[in-house]
Amino acid sequence: MTSNQPFHTSFCASRLLLAVFLGCVFFASAEKKSAAAKSAPAPLRGVDALSLSQRRAFLRGTLADWRLDTDDHRGIAPPPIQKPYAADARRLDLIAPDKFAVGSMSVREAIRERRSRRDYSDALFSLEELSYLLWATQGISKLERDEDGELLAQYRTVPSGGAKHPFESYLLINRVAGVAPGLYRYLPIEHQLLVIREGAELGTQVTAACYGQSFIGEAAVTFIWAAIPYRSEWKYGSIAEKIVALDMGHLCQNLYLAVESIQAGMCAVMGYNQARMDALLGLDGENEFVIYLAASGKIR
Ligand SMILES: Cc1cc2nc3c(=O)[nH]c(=O)nc-3n(C[C@H](O)[C@H](O)[C@H](O)COP(=O)(O)O)c2cc1C
Repeated sequence: MTSNQPFHTSFCASRLLLAVFLGCVFFASAEKKSAAAKSAPAPLRGVDALSLSQRRAFLRGTLADWRLDTDDHRGIAPPPIQKPYAADARRLDLIAPDKFAVGSMSVREAIRERRSRRDYSDALFSLEELSYLLWATQGISKLERDEDGELLAQYRTVPSGGAKHPFESYLLINRVAGVAPGLYRYLPIEHQLLVIREGAELGTQVTAACYGQSFIGEAAVTFIWAAIPYRSEWKYGSIAEKIVALDMGHLCQNLYLAVESIQAGMCAVMGYNQARMDALLGLDGENEFVIYLAASGKIR
């Protein structure tokens, strides 16, 4: 018994110590969880939830060295360069860039004449004209692959930070020869149109989502560009959102010049309701969302 005494005492003491230790661990982790819950920011739906200084910080970009804090640097595989689609989805062939006869106006003349135009005729775009506008805005001019066929780099007709091209081009089509009115998506890799849904009713909904600007829903073709920010975030981390915004401007300016070069008209559009436009396209509004639109058509 006496020989067991010290053992019993030390056994009790060690159980007590273990209980105290586990208690501390439990409380520490509970506290950490509740602190994390308290500090977890509520999801932001728009920039209106940010202060003026936060909004300006977005434009200025980071002051720290951003290059190491990226998924690219962490060795995570890059996201696809184009949004996937169902294998049985209907696709329409476009006219190949080497067959274009349209768009031979000089760059100088296109720059000089470019204007935002909102008054379109009932005339149709030809399939070649639409193909040209899509190529001019998101067309792939070069794909680099390794010996196993893995994509190394992609180059398009517009510049993009790190050649990440974080956009998908949706099209509201009302008047294109040989193409039924409806909603489509451009597939740059295949240079094809993906049919999302046919029907002329979408134009009215687009106009409503654009606060009644009817030229947008009634245009021959309205480009609705969506951003997939992770394509740029993967490579550029915290500075990516600024890059996405800069990329978008390059893309739209190419459309202005290409439209001018086929003697047609267009108008860039930021006046739309974000939630309604995302819902119209079936986008989640977080990983992919509408960022800009452009109405286009033949002019009177
Ligand atoms: C970011 C941006 C957003 C615009 N949003 C709209 C719009 O919602 N509706 C519209 O009618 N025009 C819109 N415009 C077109 C401008 O009103 C137009 O560029 C401006 O009046 C200058 O005319 P210009 O393009 O002919 O030089 C937008 C232009 C830009 C660059």
